[in-house]
Amino acid sequence: MMMEGLHNWVLRLFECLVILCFFTLFGSASAQEGFVSLACCTDSNFTNTNTNISWTPDYNWFSDRTNCTNITKLTVNNADDERSRIFEIDSGKRCYNLTTLKDQEYLIRGTFLGSYSNSSEVTSFTVYVGVTPLDLVHLSLEVEGVFVAKKNYIDFCLEKRNGAPYISYLELRPLHALDYFQGFSSDVLKLISRVNLGNTSLAIRYPDDPSDRIWKPLSNPDPTISSISSPNINVLNYNATVDIPLPVLQTALTHSTQLVFLHSDIETEAYEYRVFFYFLELDETVKPGQRVFDIYINDEKQASGFDILANGSNYKQSVFTVLANGSLNLTFVKSSDGSPLGPTCNAYEILQVRPWIQETNEKDVEVSLNSRDELLAYNKVNEVLKSWSGDPCLPLPWDGLACESINGSSVITKLDLSDHKFEGLFPFSITELPYLKTLNLSYNDFAGKVPSFPASSMLQSVDLSHNKFIGVLPESLASLPYLKTLNFGCNQFGDGNELPPNFNSSRIKTDFGKCDHRGSPRSIQAIIIGTVTCGSFLFTVMVGIIYVCFCRQKFKPRAVFDSSRPVFMKNFIISLSSIDDHVSEPINPKDFPLEFIEDITQKYSTLIGEGGFGSVYRGTLPDGQEVAVKVRSATSTQGTREFENERKLLSLFRNENLVPLLGYCSENDQQILVYPFMSNGSLQDRLYGELSKRKPLDWPTRISIALGAARGLTYLHTYVGGCVIHRDVKSSNILLDQSMCAKVADFGFSKGAPQEGDVASLEVRGTAGYLDPEYYTSHSLSAKSDVFSFGVVLLEIICGREPINVRMPRSEWSLVEWAKPYIRQSRIDEIVDPSIKGGYHAEAMWRVVEVAVACIEPFSAYRPCMADIVRELEDALIIENNASEYMRSIDSMYSLGGSNRFSVGNDKKMGLPPTPCPTEPSPITHDLAPPEPR
Ligand SMILES: *[C@@H]1O[C@H](CO)[C@@H](O)[C@H](O)[C@H]1NC(C)=O
Ligand SMILES: *[C@@H]1O[C@H](CO)[C@@H](O)[C@H](O)[C@H]1NC(C)=O
Ligand SMILES: *[C@@H]1O[C@H](CO)[C@@H](O)[C@H](O)[C@H]1NC(C)=O
Ligand SMILES: *[C@@H]1O[C@H](CO)[C@@H](O)[C@H](O)[C@H]1NC(C)=O
Ligand SMILES: *[C@@H]1O[C@H](CO)[C@@H](O)[C@H](O)[C@H]1NC(C)=O
Ligand SMILES: *[C@@H]1O[C@H](CO)[C@@H](O)[C@H](O)[C@H]1NC(C)=O
Repeated sequence: MMMEGLHNWVLRLFECLVILCFFTLFGSASAQEGFVSLACCTDSNFTNTNTNISWTPDYNWFSDRTNCTNITKLTVNNADDERSRIFEIDSGKRCYNLTTLKDQEYLIRGTFLGSYSNSSEVTSFTVYVGVTPLDLVHLSLEVEGVFVAKKNYIDFCLEKRNGAPYISYLELRPLHALDYFQGFSSDVLKLISRVNLGNTSLAIRYPDDPSDRIWKPLSNPDPTISSISSPNINVLNYNATVDIPLPVLQTALTHSTQLVFLHSDIETEAYEYRVFFYFLELDETVKPGQRVFDIYINDEKQASGFDILANGSNYKQSVFTVLANGSLNLTFVKSSDGSPLGPTCNAYEILQVRPWIQETNEKDVEVSLNSRDELLAYNKVNEVLKSWSGDPCLPLPWDGLACESINGSSVITKLDLSDHKFEGLFPFSITELPYLKTLNLSYNDFAGKVPSFPASSMLQSVDLSHNKFIGVLPESLASLPYLKTLNFGCNQFGDGNELPPNFNSSRIKTDFGKCDHRGSPRSIQAIIIGTVTCGSFLFTVMVGIIYVCFCRQKFKPRAVFDSSRPVFMKNFIISLSSIDDHVSEPINPKDFPLEFIEDITQKYSTLIGEGGFGSVYRGTLPDGQEVAVKVRSATSTQGTREFENERKLLSLFRNENLVPLLGYCSENDQQILVYPFMSNGSLQDRLYGELSKRKPLDWPTRISIALGAARGLTYLHTYVGGCVIHRDVKSSNILLDQSMCAKVADFGFSKGAPQEGDVASLEVRGTAGYLDPEYYTSHSLSAKSDVFSFGVVLLEIICGREPINVRMPRSEWSLVEWAKPYIRQSRIDEIVDPSIKGGYHAEAMWRVVEVAVACIEPFSAYRPCMADIVRELEDALIIENNASEYMRSIDSMYSLGGSNRFSVGNDKKMGLPPTPCPTEPSPITHDLAPPEPR
């Protein structure tokens, strides 16, 4: 057997070598016109001997040669050594700008070979074509988009999410005369699949396909379907420029009754898909009318009585546009009216339609790129300029910029470069920014003269103070129509006559060039910022206190238990204390000296965890209490800001289901937080970590943990000082104390819900596998994003599986994608964690499954609020814990109150109604159906 396998393998290798020689000798050496083929981080140009495509390094875009990594395991391009460029950035995006011809159609393809990090936090980043998000890369190797160029270049960008983004290859290919857009050129099409049916070996691409589309064999062909091939087939009316490559057409799959192709791993949000089918009749003996079939997509008939040979040709292409979410089922069924032969298909392509997002106003982009070049000339290594890549405003503005939207297009309104050690001349282009209102260049080392400003400028505030400007201020500056403030003190203007004669000091507030030496700029600013934050912080607390005092009574009925419910229920779930019962005593976090921290941890001797923030050590307080000590490391990916954020928020919160903060230390640049030690680890450990092997969590405990966490999140979302969104809800952030009470932890990324009028927060945070797709695509944050993540946690407790597991087959990588079809078909038993099989009440299980499904609704408006979830989980727990007697008694109890919520055997499902959360604007879609029950 072994020998035979080896023999086959050698033959196959020989075959490849022959093909390879053929291409090398006869392969098209010309063409490749307009191809851009970048091999990131390679040392020099090289030609791939299979495809004859010439590759060049990417140093024109990124000259850095240190942040490159060798990839040893994968070979995509037959390069001697394959590399990835790694972008070790704190935030934001890095872009490649590629030259395009306006109105030309292109295919753009990124290949991402990278080592998957071993932690549970998979590296993930967003890929943009222009400013339109194309895909979230966490495990995908290849991302391809098709677009029509709107100007003379296109940006291809990677935006950091978790870990460092990376890229290995980038390809741009003009598409000639192919009709992908069907007249709607204002979209980006994301390639989902491009399949060459009937071929089982190599992918077909350039030079067979002049546009270098890659036609791959079907990944797991159904062995009962037969392949046919006909290498000498003559295709009538074939045109090599516009039609798909002959080698792709020469093979097909066929079946006597029906062909089915399932794609069950497409996005769960609804998108429009364009499906292209290619048919060539390979059997030359077949006559028109002998092979007739119907075409279905997701059970909807798209074409009936389809006959390839109709109209005297033997080749046909057809395209269908469908709306789909979750899966695509492409089916060809032999026509029922007596067609002797079953269906056939040679190839198909599935493309997802993504609406093109308008880039920033063209003039703003041009001017800001020029300004960047001017600044770069004198400030080659300035940190601020490193983030100035791609579009200046979208998806996030460059450091130092602020943008607004005017008539649907983004424009730059503020430029603040203060205190960043800039040198050189005043970046003249800045004056041309058409919508700039605020310009702050203070506290730098800019020199030379201040240039004149165009009269059309909208500037309202200009700060040039604390630089090395000379000469006089231009009259054009003094006569700007909207100018209200102008500061220019502490420069080298000289004689004090730098204000132009036309300056009107009653209209424009100014420092008259006076220089007050208040010490170093940094410390002044720090004091000011410090006062401002502390002030507003105090203010918030004050308002909070007043609010609590005056409004508490009014809020009581809205707390966890509806007052309309019978009181004894509260006693029934004795093991679960509710929020109102146990408002924990305020413990003010203590400011510990560093020495004390070293003492209690015995000089950091017991490491108990590591994460993006640094390390966690175990310690014991003098009174014997065990604590966890979180120490931010110098190389931490979570910044000072997250640490401060966590410290501040935790000092405010008092809730049984949130991890409390006992103290902190910020001596000697150290940042340390001290929490009580949670002796039962995290929910994640208990579900599928080491601890789960010792003793699996039983189902009632799982529900009560979920309920505890849900209460903690409810507290955050309805916090009196304003809704707080956790932003990183996941099973490893749900910790368990000695009595298995759940406590939500890790508030580094948490933030208040955006208020009306806030500029949308564009910084997406979270963990791959838990991230709300809507938040991720729209960047608009709401409490419902936590709800989505919580839904994933619920699926974890049901299935006992990780949200993302790349060791599984491709279709099972994502827990959500894997579980959904089973739930839809009510096949819950097949997804329930084997270690709780037989240990749960079906009704209770269904309750939790339904909550989970409602939580992971793609559209946030359909997701329930945490408070609803708490109620549903309470019900589930009651059902699980109940004796049937209890069910009956409570049933009669409720029938008095007019509700039949608990009646057994009743036609139950009401699902969870979509509810707007108290802090959010109501969705406008109230009349839409609630989430489908099953
Ligand atoms: C690499 O290829 C590019 C584009 O084809 C060309 O401009 C450049 O001169 C080549 N570099 C070397 C070292 O051959
Ligand atoms: C990557 O490989 C090249 C050549 O194969 C070698 O010179 C280089 O040192 C390697 N880099 C790393 C980081 O291993
Ligand atoms: C390269 O990596 C180092 C550390 O890993 C980082 O400090 C530096 O900013 C990176 N440079 C780029 C261009 O990503
Ligand atoms: C890409 O960016 C570089 C650096 O700013 C610039 O020199 C080049 O002209 C840009 N190319 C295109 C096509 O815009
Ligand atoms: C193939 O199609 C292209 C684009 O429509 C056209 O310009 C060309 O003339 C066609 N070639 C033949 C042989 O028909
Ligand atoms: C796919 O669609 C066909 C036709 O509508 C249907 O018969 C078949 O059951 C579907 N398959 C799956 C797995 O949904």
